[in-house]
Amino acid sequence: MRYLELLNKYTTIAKYRGLEEEAVKLIVAELSDMTQTEVYLHYNDEVSPLLVDKIISSLEKYITGYPAQYILGYTYFYGLKLKVCEDVLIPRFDTEVVVEQALKVASFYKEPKVLDICTGSGAIAIALAKNGISAVDALDISKNALKIARINAKENDVKIRFFESDLLRNVKEKYDILISNPPYIENNAKDVDKMVLDHEPHLALFGGIDGLDFYRAILKDAKDYLKPGGSIIFEIPYDKANEIRSIALMYFKNIQIEKDLANNDRVMIIS
Ligand SMILES: C[S@@+](CC[C@H](N)C(=O)[O-])C[C@H]1O[C@@H](n2cnc3c(N)ncnc32)[C@H](O)[C@@H]1O
Repeated sequence: MRYLELLNKYTTIAKYRGLEEEAVKLIVAELSDMTQTEVYLHYNDEVSPLLVDKIISSLEKYITGYPAQYILGYTYFYGLKLKVCEDVLIPRFDTEVVVEQALKVASFYKEPKVLDICTGSGAIAIALAKNGISAVDALDISKNALKIARINAKENDVKIRFFESDLLRNVKEKYDILISNPPYIENNAKDVDKMVLDHEPHLALFGGIDGLDFYRAILKDAKDYLKPGGSIIFEIPYDKANEIRSIALMYFKNIQIEKDLANNDRVMIIS
């Protein structure tokens, strides 16, 4: 089978099923060890017999609604390659804006010490450590997520202290910056993408009746874990900035909201 035929067949099926044609191209390129442009240049070539079965079975899995990143076993985040599996949320593009803002905030501290709460794959913590923050700790309640995060830190050559904790319960030190992308989908939300709902860990998704339980819990205790002049940085759901601001104002004075590339409220910086 030629690349052209393979791509035509599976992009058509993906489109028909409301899935992403881009994901089909990504799977084909990654499994062929080529860039998408290189695949394009090899359109009329036969797919190697050694690869064709693997690519077809992966594409068949994708068109049943299984996430491309879990099929490949990795994704890219802030220029880093991260291992992912069903134990961790697939790091999202929007979260890169949180890292970007955190690096700006961190530049105001001398040797900032940072704690990533709800680290999952370790995406935020690793991106920060890779970009010049030398003291990064990270926690998650999930042992399995922490296993993946540790592998990701090792493969990206950064030193992070990971530990298991139910939010701040096992935290023993104080930090300049607490950062978190906590679960924030409303428990009864009806509009959650089926691919997300069926395959990503529910522990990483749902944040209580109004989706804000984790913000409440972290903000309530945050002062005990912040050094004087410390900051909290949250990823926030684009439509809940006002509610989260009101909760934050119960404990802190300064609230700044930053937008993502789609111009939605996405990051809250609290001090
Ligand atoms: C939305 S994911 C964020 C993952 C990662 N930080 C990212 O941005 O891609 C939320 C994470 O919170 C973790 N989590 C859920 N409840 C928790 C709790 N009570 N304490 C600590 N972590 C928790 C989940 O295991 C999951 O890894």
